[in-house]
Amino acid sequence: MKIGIPRETRAGETRVAATPETVKKYVAQGHQVIVESGAGVRASLPDSVYEAVGARIGTAAQAFEGDLVLKVGAPDGAELALMKPGTVLIGMLNPFDAENNACMTAAGIVAFALEATPRTTRAQSMDVLSSQANIAGYKAVLIAAHHYQRFMPMLMTAAGTVKAARVLVLGAGVAGLQAIATAKRLGAVIEASDVRPAVKEQIESLGAKFLDVPFVTDEEREIAQGEGGYARPMPADWMRRQAELVHERAKAADIVITTALIPGRQAPVLLRDETVRAMKPGSVVVDLAAAQGGNCPLTVADEVVERYGVTLIGHTNLASMVAADASALYARNVLDFLKLIVKDGKLAVDRGDDIVAACLMTKDAEQALAQ
Ligand code: NAI
Repeated sequence: MKIGIPRETRAGETRVAATPETVKKYVAQGHQVIVESGAGVRASLPDSVYEAVGARIGTAAQAFEGDLVLKVGAPDGAELALMKPGTVLIGMLNPFDAENNACMTAAGIVAFALEATPRTTRAQSMDVLSSQANIAGYKAVLIAAHHYQRFMPMLMTAAGTVKAARVLVLGAGVAGLQAIATAKRLGAVIEASDVRPAVKEQIESLGAKFLDVPFVTDEEREIAQGEGGYARPMPADWMRRQAELVHERAKAADIVITTALIPGRQAPVLLRDETVRAMKPGSVVVDLAAAQGGNCPLTVADEVVERYGVTLIGHTNLASMVAADASALYARNVLDFLKLIVKDGKLAVDRGDDIVAACLMTKDAEQALAQ
């Protein structure tokens, strides 16, 4: 098959959907690979490294002409127009964006959104949310450290002792746990909270303190278990009690990293205006939920702003700031997903496969698949 790797066009996107490592494997499987010139350059992958493993360098139009098009983000209108009906598109295509799904369906595209991968053991190697959230959690701490005007570790120097930074992590999923691990390596003292009680042990095993908001009703206990590995919106009374605890702990913190997401919904508010107002001047907040409305109402997506003496960081694509490794891990996720839908060099979409079925966005793609 012909596999196209376009250069990403969204502002701030530095990642690429295939690396020389994965292209080499596609070529070895007998596929023809066309990489758009410059596709990998922002991830330190010049055209020459793709050519060296057997790819052809081409234009955007040539890359979008592939039978299979591998992308990082969802295509815009101009990119959709470059694809012929029946093209199989794989990427992080925003499964909850109904308008985008409708456009892809209308264009006759067979679209697979890898964010919809189920949270199962078999799907782990293609779980793009995990591979990219892990990077975001790491980078969030480094960015916080960059904006924070003090040391992270405790230091004893001839000029006096410096206290360790106190870091508060709200939401301890993949990104939050990596943020804890990274802050720990830098010597910070860490507290963390999550709705899912199962993460208590994980938080503690990384050397952080778990902030417990006890459940008082069976409903709270039940909802907190989440669904398919994801959190569900918690009842208002639990959120109020959590906000009170967060208010107290944020006042003592130097850095707050928020990562709480609920799939397909606005992110929950965990850090209220009055809590930021009560924080110490010079504190730093990194809001990883900025693209979903933010865990703090004061966050401005894609901006760094200062409110009440606190720096609030709302970057929405932190993984792109670690472009080479983010691309390497993402490209492996894509490679593993392709193994499910391409057999013996041909497209073989098995809708009975739970991973394939979950990721297929254009459910009316029958005709295209029949070709
Ligand atoms: P996520 O990015 O959707 O959410 C981040 C965290 O925010 C979650 O831990 C969630 O419980 C928490 N959260 C939501 N509302 C909150 C609130 N009001 N207060 C505090 N915390 C709140 O989650 P992520 O990181 O994508 O994955 C969640 C979990 O799924 C993982 O920790 C893991 O247990 C599981 N998982 C399983 C996989 C597998 O088996 N293949 C792969 C990846 C994750």
